[in-house]
Amino acid sequence: MENTNIKIAVIIGSVREGRFGDKPAAWILGEAKKIAGVEAELIDLKEIKLPTYATGGYPSAVQDGNYGNDTLNAFAKSIGEADAFIIVSPEYNHGYSSALKDALDSIYKEWNNKPVAFIGYGSVGGARAIEQLREVAVELQMAPIRNAVHLPGDVYGAAMKAPLGDATPFAPVAEKATGMLTQLLWWAKALKAAR
Ligand SMILES: Cc1cc2nc3c(=O)[nH]c(=O)nc-3n(C[C@H](O)[C@H](O)[C@H](O)COP(=O)(O)O)c2cc1C
Repeated sequence: MENTNIKIAVIIGSVREGRFGDKPAAWILGEAKKIAGVEAELIDLKEIKLPTYATGGYPSAVQDGNYGNDTLNAFAKSIGEADAFIIVSPEYNHGYSSALKDALDSIYKEWNNKPVAFIGYGSVGGARAIEQLREVAVELQMAPIRNAVHLPGDVYGAAMKAPLGDATPFAPVAEKATGMLTQLLWWAKALKAAR
């Protein structure tokens, strides 16, 4: 029987030693998993260790999922299996991470016609990085959704001190997360049917 569940991939955009990004990622993964009919998985760019984007040819020309590198092909497969994405993005010098840019640029078809939501943090909740990510997502034929979670400084501070997997510090943004997940699922279902 066809699997009608919506698969959400949560992508951690920071690969930095001592990063904060794994905490909001673990939290939103847990929130997504609570929703009936949703399968959620974590894609950790730090573990995957994608090569810096340097392949010849255009990823947009690849139709068979073979990007010429086992690591990249496995990454492409997991992105291809997802119906929607939540990118958890740091903000570095008013932009997003180079790890995210490599991930986004290295493959193509697997991103197409799928919605993407964002969680950001930093002095303005990662807003500048997220706006840039939205522009890139459109070029990848994705649908960046409006509702995002921009973590306020006090949530960032409390979560930084809390152990990984502790959802308590994120309670002040629970409503924002619900709004984001609801909108992401609406788009995920619509685009899954359309694909
Ligand atoms: C190289 C670098 C540049 C940064 N630039 C910004 C910035 O432009 N805006 C901002 O709000 N925070 C900035 N910060 C602070 C980050 O928001 C903070 O370190 C955050 O924890 C980074 O995410 P990560 O820990 O998940 O890698 C910067 C941090 C680093 C390491």
